[in-house]
Amino acid sequence: MDRADLEFLVEPETNSPLIVELEDANGSVGEGWLVAAAGQRYEIREGIPSFVAKETMDEQTVRSFDEKWEKHKTYREETRAFYTDWYLARFGFGDRAGLSRFLEDKKLILDAGTGAGRDAANFVELAPASRVFGIDTAWHALVTSARNARREEGTKPQARLVHADIHRLPFADGSFDFINCDQVIHHTPEPRVAFEALARKLRVGGEIAVYVYRKKSVIREFTDDYVRERIKHGSFEDALAVTSAITKLGKAFAELNQRVRIEEDLTVLGIEKGEYDVQRFLHWHVLKCFWNPTFDFFTNNVVNADWYHPVHCHRFTPEEFRAWFQDWDILAWDEQEAGISCRARKR
Ligand SMILES: C[S@@+](CC[C@H](N)C(=O)[O-])C[C@H]1O[C@@H](n2cnc3c(N)ncnc32)[C@H](O)[C@@H]1O
Repeated sequence: MDRADLEFLVEPETNSPLIVELEDANGSVGEGWLVAAAGQRYEIREGIPSFVAKETMDEQTVRSFDEKWEKHKTYREETRAFYTDWYLARFGFGDRAGLSRFLEDKKLILDAGTGAGRDAANFVELAPASRVFGIDTAWHALVTSARNARREEGTKPQARLVHADIHRLPFADGSFDFINCDQVIHHTPEPRVAFEALARKLRVGGEIAVYVYRKKSVIREFTDDYVRERIKHGSFEDALAVTSAITKLGKAFAELNQRVRIEEDLTVLGIEKGEYDVQRFLHWHVLKCFWNPTFDFFTNNVVNADWYHPVHCHRFTPEEFRAWFQDWDILAWDEQEAGISCRARKR
């Protein structure tokens, strides 16, 4: 992070400016402090300013993700192609050229809950003149992402990483041209409140892209809560041990490569008639047992554990999610079994 980037940061509660106090002044800021007029001090470590309060760091969902990112340091590389294609389709960009055109006038971009930093890296690559901030409450997401970027990208432009919570963002209201929040907001205690906090940071006419988990059918919802209830007190490592058997089951069913025909709607269970791949049917209607043959076993297991372990894991119907955008212009809307994506312009 350099001094010019730090100029964009403000004290999260008061929106007041911060003074940079450096331990080592050489242009770019590795270690140091940001200090508010009222005395609050925020540390910068490995070039990443940290605004996340100790109580927030102690929350189960925050710890779960922190441990996930500490354990899987190559998640971004492993999954980037698959998730980028999915992202481009859901938010109506089509392909990388479409996203590139969209980003042309987006000078200040926020990737909220950046995780391993895939979307932020795509924004930087396609819009190198824009300033892209990536924030996350999971410290290990950010350090891993920064270390990988230093190793792989060298001196090329990179996302600016800030350790921050969506509810206490250290940016002035109305500052961003585009806010991306993909697969994140359902992990906050009250997603609607988090959405409003993000929306405040967007300028009028700016755009937001948000994805939330969709409510599933009856048996699947039951299994989700049942497994979560049983593993939530343990660590992410413990969760991986439990989901390992679930991941193996997903793999075994996927390898069957068989289809099943459901002749009639099972209305009482919320299951629609149709032809399904057997593993997909099981995954959507009985038990999440993700398996993607292009990922290794560990990555598949991390995807399953990341579903079951965090206690904040809200699911929405399309109607519930659409109600968030009553005062927005919806530009892209996508409903799939897994979740719902919306890109909208702030009026
Ligand atoms: C499932 S990951 C998604 C990461 C990334 N957006 C992606 O699409 O790959 C969810 C991320 O949201 C972060 N997160 C959850 N609640 C947050 C909050 N209140 N503020 C900032 N980040 C948060 C988690 O730490 C985690 O890294």
